[in-house]
Amino acid sequence: MNEDRAVTAEQAASGIFNGENGLDPFAVFAQMRQAGPILSVPVEMGGVKFKAWMVTRFDEAMQVLKDHGRFTVDRSALESGSSGGESFMRQDESSPATFFTGKSMLTVDEPDHRRLRGLVSKAFTPKYMESLRPRVQGLADSLLDRVQSGGEMDLVRDYAYPLPINVICDMLGIPEEDHADIRLWSGAIAHGLGLGRQEPEVAEHLRAFGEYTARLVHNKRSRPGDDLISQLIALEEEGDRLSEQELYSMITLLVFAGHETTSNLIATGCLMLLDHPDELAKLKADLSLVPSAVEELLRFNGPSTIAGPRYALEDTEIAGQPIRRGEMIFPVLKSANRDELKFDASEELDLTRSISRHLAFGNGIHMCLGAPLARIEADVAFSTLLRRMPELRLAIPREDVAWSFALSSQGLAALPVKF
Ligand code: HEM
Repeated sequence: MNEDRAVTAEQAASGIFNGENGLDPFAVFAQMRQAGPILSVPVEMGGVKFKAWMVTRFDEAMQVLKDHGRFTVDRSALESGSSGGESFMRQDESSPATFFTGKSMLTVDEPDHRRLRGLVSKAFTPKYMESLRPRVQGLADSLLDRVQSGGEMDLVRDYAYPLPINVICDMLGIPEEDHADIRLWSGAIAHGLGLGRQEPEVAEHLRAFGEYTARLVHNKRSRPGDDLISQLIALEEEGDRLSEQELYSMITLLVFAGHETTSNLIATGCLMLLDHPDELAKLKADLSLVPSAVEELLRFNGPSTIAGPRYALEDTEIAGQPIRRGEMIFPVLKSANRDELKFDASEELDLTRSISRHLAFGNGIHMCLGAPLARIEADVAFSTLLRRMPELRLAIPREDVAWSFALSSQGLAALPVKF
């Protein structure tokens, strides 16, 4: 490895995933791609320093995400006699499981993955999602009704955040009065966890989130409703399909994965549109472009920086680079989606671009379960906003817009706008 390549890798590891070095991540990703499709980067997790591989280009990232024979999400699959699904975070034994600490579909291979995902996949089909559209539309309108006459809002606080959390909590049957707690815990967990970083308060929030989930399950056992959690409880009670720990992990995964990323897509997407007035004008002139614009916004600056860690199941190679069994590999989704070998003018936002594939939702068996839901939410959110507030513009200087970095995604802390 030459010196330049090592420096770029250090930069990436030391700040790009938590914003500490203040660099433009896309400039660093471009440098990383120049250096090669796979780079060795120093990482520190739980006080242990080691090297992890970052996969920077589209084809190689796709290969890692899809080749389940060579790469696993389940580190414990490397150890014989393990029960599987171990997370990289250490579990506080006295806390109820969350998907961060327990076994969820995100951290297991087949056949457990198929079993767990199969239990909820019917609730996330594109067809079922379409049936939720009127509810999502009603929510979007009522959120904008509250701010319309004032002529300004914080688009994150008033629109991008409440929309997805209301939708997923509705599906799960989580009462509205609990949303503020959910927001506190999941925000604190997401922001307190960076690549290789775990702030001390995270454990407390994880415990609170886990205990809340256990209480919720307890209440719904005695008074089941017409919601996804009640359906999952019935499956757990049937016996061999879902254990109690898996039930808790599933609920926290759906709550957590179901709102933060989508709100980031809506808020960051709006900022990207405001940054590109010609593209925004095209979209306002023809709102039927919104679904394809959403795909381009996902490609151009989707919420997830990286997919979860993969581990090599055997000594292997990626793009000619030898990889040893057990080594950790991160597909860098945002970099793969800007790969100039895959997309023409990859660093440009082009809302009319025809995209056959991007990696914003990952790929392979762990490809985002909630993608159809996120797509409907984003479609409704952008269409409604641009129809009702065609004069949308930033209310602060562009350089004052603050980013917020979380576990594996990047969003906006706030987005003050006028309309
Ligand atoms: C724009 C919004 C979203 C983005 C960018 C996104 C991104 C992703 C990505 C990249 C993965 C794969 C992670 C990996 O392979 O390591 C994933 C998985 C997942 N997502 Fe999403 N997600 C979004 C919205 C949602 C929503 C609304 C839900 C609803 C519950 C959801 C639930 C899940 C679940 C359950 C998984 C794990 C799937 C599995 O392991 O089989 N996501 N998501």
